[in-house]
Amino acid sequence: MSKGRDAVADALELLEEASRAFEKGMLLPKLFNHPGIFELEKERIFKHTWIFLAHESEIPRPGDYVVRYIVYDSFIVVRDDEGEIRVLLNTCRHRGMQVCRAEMGNASYFRCPYHGWTYKNNGELVGVPHFKRIYGERFDRSEWPLMAVPRVELHDGLIFVNLDAEAPSLKDYLGGAEWYFDFYTKKSRAGLEVMGAPHRWVVPADWKLGADNFIGDAYHTAFSHESTVKAGILFAENADFHLESPQWVTERAGGGLMQIPPGSYAGYPPSIVESWKQNLSPQQWKLVEELSIIPTHSTLFPNLSFLNAASIPNPEQVVPWLTIRVWRPLEPGKMELWSWFLVEKDAPEEFKRASRQSYVLSFGSSGTFEMDDAENWSSISRMARGELSRDLYLNYQMGLNHLEPIPDWPGPGRVYPIDYTEYAQRQFWKVWFEYMLEDS
Ligand code: FES
Ligand SMILES: [Fe+2]
Repeated sequence: MSKGRDAVADALELLEEASRAFEKGMLLPKLFNHPGIFELEKERIFKHTWIFLAHESEIPRPGDYVVRYIVYDSFIVVRDDEGEIRVLLNTCRHRGMQVCRAEMGNASYFRCPYHGWTYKNNGELVGVPHFKRIYGERFDRSEWPLMAVPRVELHDGLIFVNLDAEAPSLKDYLGGAEWYFDFYTKKSRAGLEVMGAPHRWVVPADWKLGADNFIGDAYHTAFSHESTVKAGILFAENADFHLESPQWVTERAGGGLMQIPPGSYAGYPPSIVESWKQNLSPQQWKLVEELSIIPTHSTLFPNLSFLNAASIPNPEQVVPWLTIRVWRPLEPGKMELWSWFLVEKDAPEEFKRASRQSYVLSFGSSGTFEMDDAENWSSISRMARGELSRDLYLNYQMGLNHLEPIPDWPGPGRVYPIDYTEYAQRQFWKVWFEYMLEDS
């Protein structure tokens, strides 16, 4: 039996034991750096769930493309000459070379650097050097296109793919989470646009730690990010503001709802507030207008997170911003973090600039918050390598048998009165265990 097989067999045994402990709110740290767990995650999670790859504003014109990844697989996300969005596996059909080596650009054709096979931007193989002479007349180029991803669906400009042809629709997969994500994506009639290329950097930490933090870890904010409160750049007078903010949980997602000063609309310009109100249902708008809360941090299983928050670049100004991030697994205990900045396409230019600056200062790769978080997650992954530490169960019991969902909540899912709870994190792990144990 190969070493890889041993690791998977070991992981399967571990999963049984770990899932039983998790029912009591206890998590096994071994799940973070385990090679067999990583193998199973590739097969059982990333081949069957909806994965965000790009925003349509990144490829507005025919021929525009970006290169994106699901674990190791590389994809060309391209708008073809007819304007259709295609997601093509970036692997040459001849010897498997990576066909498109640039991260983004505009092209009618993609030519493989090894022997020159050339594909149209819809994936068709159209050029094979000397093909009649070396392959003969019977060689049919139409049988060798770049592989198209089985499922591609858009939601409010977000491009998702699923490698499983039998997977449920994106809408079904989103379920009740759509109600909360609308607050991020439907602020303007013109939609969102990505400004600049996404930031990306490698963090020596398990991908699940980022997803877990963004779905429900409001608890760390006041402590880990205390310096931002002291510096006066957090959009709250009190760093424990999440203590009084609700947390929502749906089948495959969850997040927190941030309090905003009544009538402030989190600092969005009046033209955006107007269209935001029109685009949401009266029930949704009730949150902003009557309850003075907006969805802030969240995660959609497995590895897409959102954060809509605000910074105070100077005492007179509150500037909101929106980021999307993907926690791309690279290897056991190592991820590549992708972070996009998005803004309403029709917002005033001055607002767009200020919003981007606020994002860069807080959650860009060198942002004040981001640096604190990367250190937390790297430390957890490092500690989980220890012979004793990796078997020492972690406490995931906050709020267990202690909180009840808010009755008569206007939206879907369960909503708990405080964001200092771990219902959403437990939901993330519950879904994770379900996918991981599916074929066992
Ligand atoms: S590997 Fe691409 S042309 Fe040979
Ligand atoms: Fe954080």
